[in-house]
Amino acid sequence: MKKHGFIFVCTKKSESEMLSKNIILTGKIYAPKLFAVREGDYLFLYNLDTDILWGTFRAKGEASYDKSLKIFDGKYPYYILVEPIKEIKKINNAKQLFKKWSISWKDILTEKGALSLKSVLDREIFIDIKGEKLVDENYRPPIFSTTLWDYPTQSYGDTKKGDNKYPGVTPAFIIYNLIWRYTEPGDLVCDPMAGSGTTIDVCKEEKRNVIAFDIVPTREDIIEADARNLPLKDNSVDMIFIDSPYGDNIKYNDHPLNIGNIPATKEEFFDELEKVMKECLRVLKEGKVLAWLIGDQWAKGFFIPVGLKIYERLTKYFIPIDIVCVIRRHQTSNTPFWHSKALQHNFYLRGFKYLIIVKKPSRKEKKIKDLKISWSYYER
Ligand SMILES: C[S@@+](CC[C@H](N)C(=O)[O-])C[C@H]1O[C@@H](n2cnc3c(N)ncnc32)[C@H](O)[C@@H]1O
Repeated sequence: MKKHGFIFVCTKKSESEMLSKNIILTGKIYAPKLFAVREGDYLFLYNLDTDILWGTFRAKGEASYDKSLKIFDGKYPYYILVEPIKEIKKINNAKQLFKKWSISWKDILTEKGALSLKSVLDREIFIDIKGEKLVDENYRPPIFSTTLWDYPTQSYGDTKKGDNKYPGVTPAFIIYNLIWRYTEPGDLVCDPMAGSGTTIDVCKEEKRNVIAFDIVPTREDIIEADARNLPLKDNSVDMIFIDSPYGDNIKYNDHPLNIGNIPATKEEFFDELEKVMKECLRVLKEGKVLAWLIGDQWAKGFFIPVGLKIYERLTKYFIPIDIVCVIRRHQTSNTPFWHSKALQHNFYLRGFKYLIIVKKPSRKEKKIKDLKISWSYYER
């Protein structure tokens, strides 16, 4: 596997701590980037206050998370141990170099990018970067800051996530975003309808524990179980991700308990998924997140707002956190034939999915929900 280069930042205050202890520390925002580092990757430290870039370091292992870490008042619980490759050197006015090479310290560098930066630090005279790819844009997806999520490919990085031949496979960047938002390394994530196992692959790469079920497992690390009756203890998981069937539009398998064999035109489809919701409520810890990916249906002249109906059922039990609109790509209907049919017969092709994010109420929140206030009314 090719190596990568990573620039992490420090300030005047934190620089000496990191350089003297051969450790790079980050807070939550840069934790996903830190956890992308593999042993042997090239690392650099950029001081935002002085515009000095220090390097070159080699990652001694992979990143860790320790919430009891006391350095800088515990604000930087994610860390990685490093060792200098030869002597530590510096580049002054590093911003100028970043600009010249059209890179940012936020980027993940290709091996060529990392070695070019190392050469400048090592004072090698001639570095020809013309036409070279210095940044690996597809190594990790971005962490989205708005409720509109779009990413060009189903998978990312050097390893496969799920199987993009599996009908209805989940885009891996969705799970990546959710686990970095709502869990910490070491937490337990559950996928009750795991399909080709995208959740497992993303969680393993991001150092989460994971447990996955499906009515018809496609691989050995998926346990056979009905999502309405999971072999898990009450209040035992830290996050649930579920990409359920959206009706009977995709043939997953012929298992009699496959909810994907019930059409979304029948209320029974929503009743069965409501049982899955109740089971999620049981196994999830209080205050923890359930994220449900779901799309609407338009078939033979009928529109079924599956997403809104699922939202309605979910909020009977859970507290809404947000709804994200995920752009649909790689659809079988994304062909000139179907685009012209949509215009000719005046209907729309599905352009997005809902990602409904809810949380299990804590005891206090449950109390608020059940609170009956007896208002006193006064004559005006
Ligand atoms: C949209 S797919 C999941 C895709 C998966 N996230 C992936 O990336 O490959 C929905 C899955 O739900 C499963 N399923 C349907 N009914 C089920 C049930 N009662 N219990 C557990 N899994 C079920 C199907 O077998 C199918 O694999």
